[in-house]
Amino acid sequence: MPESENTMFIRSDGISAEGIRDQYADGKAAKVWEIFIGDKKSRTQNYKNFLLDLLRSRGCKRILDVACGTGVDSTMLVEEGFEVVSVDASDKMLKYALKERWNRRKESNFDKWIIEEANWLTLYDDIKDFIQGGFDAVICLGNSFAHMTDSYGDQRQQIQAIRNFEKCVKPGGLLLIDHRNYDNIMETGATPSKCIYYNSQHMTDIKTSVLYVSGKPNMVTLDYLISNGSENSEFRLSYYPHCLEVFKNTLKDIFSLESDHEIYGDFKHLGESNPNPAFYIHVVEKHK
Ligand SMILES: C[S@@+](CC[C@H](N)C(=O)[O-])C[C@H]1O[C@@H](n2cnc3c(N)ncnc32)[C@H](O)[C@@H]1O
Repeated sequence: MPESENTMFIRSDGISAEGIRDQYADGKAAKVWEIFIGDKKSRTQNYKNFLLDLLRSRGCKRILDVACGTGVDSTMLVEEGFEVVSVDASDKMLKYALKERWNRRKESNFDKWIIEEANWLTLYDDIKDFIQGGFDAVICLGNSFAHMTDSYGDQRQQIQAIRNFEKCVKPGGLLLIDHRNYDNIMETGATPSKCIYYNSQHMTDIKTSVLYVSGKPNMVTLDYLISNGSENSEFRLSYYPHCLEVFKNTLKDIFSLESDHEIYGDFKHLGESNPNPAFYIHVVEKHK
């Protein structure tokens, strides 16, 4: 389907004015998540080479997935022999990950898979028993981080969350964190419905609404419509529109200027990729 052209520059009904809440609490997105992301294998195909090559080439074995959701990425990593701790704030999403672990508990990797409820704002305390010397890599993927909106206008909660991620990475370890190309969404007012993560044949439309506060884009709300045969499913999710340059500098501030920081656009190094990738993935190494 073509990109949606529908953009509104108003606060729509139902857009939360508060910062931290479980947007998945009504269970609507959780229920159709796997239809939304498309055939698991097609996500895995695109994704596997990138993620596994990157983690393996950097010697990562212990991974913390801080936005595991229904467990799509974590399951892939567990299957591939990584030691995984998965957390998420939404019990509606975690339910599906817990079910997968239960169903596959006889496979020893799945038996060892740790799944906990945790919030990024309190992450370090929520999981301190599992941190040990720090993880080889912390991953926050699938446009998850942008769920943390900016209630105070100074991004303090986003900074607190990234500080918590940083504390969970061992020296020399990695943070992998991504966001949609919001610079492009702001410019065009449209959100691509097909991208590196979501290949669903059933996705029919994403309506894009932008909320401006004091003349600055403060929240993007995406209304998803999924047609699965005769059944239509709709859900709404809100995001903070991270600009690439600002996000890059925030990561540099938290991880220190000396930290190695690579940015990929749709899995390719910036510059090799098309000038308008749908997603950016930042890979930051914590200083030793
Ligand atoms: C877009 S889903 C992505 C899940 C998974 N990574 C994927 O790609 O399929 C985003 C997840 O981030 C979680 N999340 C949002 N804000 C959070 C917070 N403050 N603390 C922990 N998890 C949070 C949501 O509950 C949700 O499951």
